[in-house]
Amino acid sequence: MKILLTGGLGFIGSETAIATIEAGHQAVIVDNLYNAKIGVLDRIEKLTGVRPAFYEADVADKKKLGEIFDKERPEAVIHFAGYKAVGESVAKPLMYYRNNLMTTLSLLETMGEYDCHNIVFSSSATVYGTPTHAPLKETDPRGEATNPYGETKIMIERILEDASKADPKLTAVLLRYFNPIGAHPSGLLGEDPRGIPNNLMPYISQVAIGKREYLHVYGSDYPTPDGTGIRDYIHVVDLAEGHVASLKAFNETKGVKIYNLGTGKGTSVLELVKAFEEATGVKIPYRLEDRRPGDVPENYADVEKAKKELGWTARLTIADACRDAYNFQVKNPEGIKD
Ligand code: UFG
Repeated sequence: MKILLTGGLGFIGSETAIATIEAGHQAVIVDNLYNAKIGVLDRIEKLTGVRPAFYEADVADKKKLGEIFDKERPEAVIHFAGYKAVGESVAKPLMYYRNNLMTTLSLLETMGEYDCHNIVFSSSATVYGTPTHAPLKETDPRGEATNPYGETKIMIERILEDASKADPKLTAVLLRYFNPIGAHPSGLLGEDPRGIPNNLMPYISQVAIGKREYLHVYGSDYPTPDGTGIRDYIHVVDLAEGHVASLKAFNETKGVKIYNLGTGKGTSVLELVKAFEEATGVKIPYRLEDRRPGDVPENYADVEKAKKELGWTARLTIADACRDAYNFQVKNPEGIKD
């Protein structure tokens, strides 16, 4: 299948580009390089032996997107493009709403114009809001977002539901990611955040190579066994394979299909630190600090639906993810070069 990946040079997009190529699909990438490096394209080629067609373009630019669709005629789209920093979204809400919504609307309109009726959307466990229980099931209601970034994910899920009601030919697969971590085992691709990392694993990796002094552990008084927050950390390679597995949904009934992509297991911050130390042999100094506003004590996925309907399940371990994240950090201390 010919698949257009918006944001296909980002952390999850690039890993998924590799997985789709390895599964025999043809990948076409559109990325505006806002939060990605052009050097990633060379690395995808190095790892797969295939250089995907690449367009440097903003998905919100309908004219340009139309030209790309006209030339490429993709049969399906995997839509990663979007801003993703929770804290930044609180400071710059309009920028987040404009970008994340405009890209999606422009994409859906263009898909309609070019007879493309299959979309996979990068959603997030954030749509469950502040969970009252774990594990979370796809049938659990969407909650209240705690920030504009999360609100855009909820809004886009609703837009896709409404669009599919109005267009019986449309199939929209909503993949709700839990916490993607790790990197490609080669060390060529991984998470390359700008500035100070917001997320736990890249922060730990930077402490490991001495780029940051110590880890700030946000909250040690949660109602969890060791007092620190619990999340469902999933290796990005497993996550990428989940996207490929989800393409199966296009051959079946039309409409909206929702899947959690996680491991089904919760890991606390301190457990992750310990696992990292064991996997890499590097000590991670940390300090226990106050809770971070907006964080929930615990969330992890119920993964039965993806297993049953897509035949997909995460197979890599936390130790694999720690080893791969560290390997990427050691090989790319200043991130991926352009
Ligand atoms: N944490 C620390 N120190 C840090 C960073 C994080 O202790 O420096 C803790 C957090 O308090 C939390 C856990 O590590 O308990 C995970 O935090 P992350 O920032 O890595 O991830 P979140 O669970 O907060 O957010 C992630 C994605 C969001 C998404 C959300 C969905 O980054 O995009 O999961 O549940 F919305």
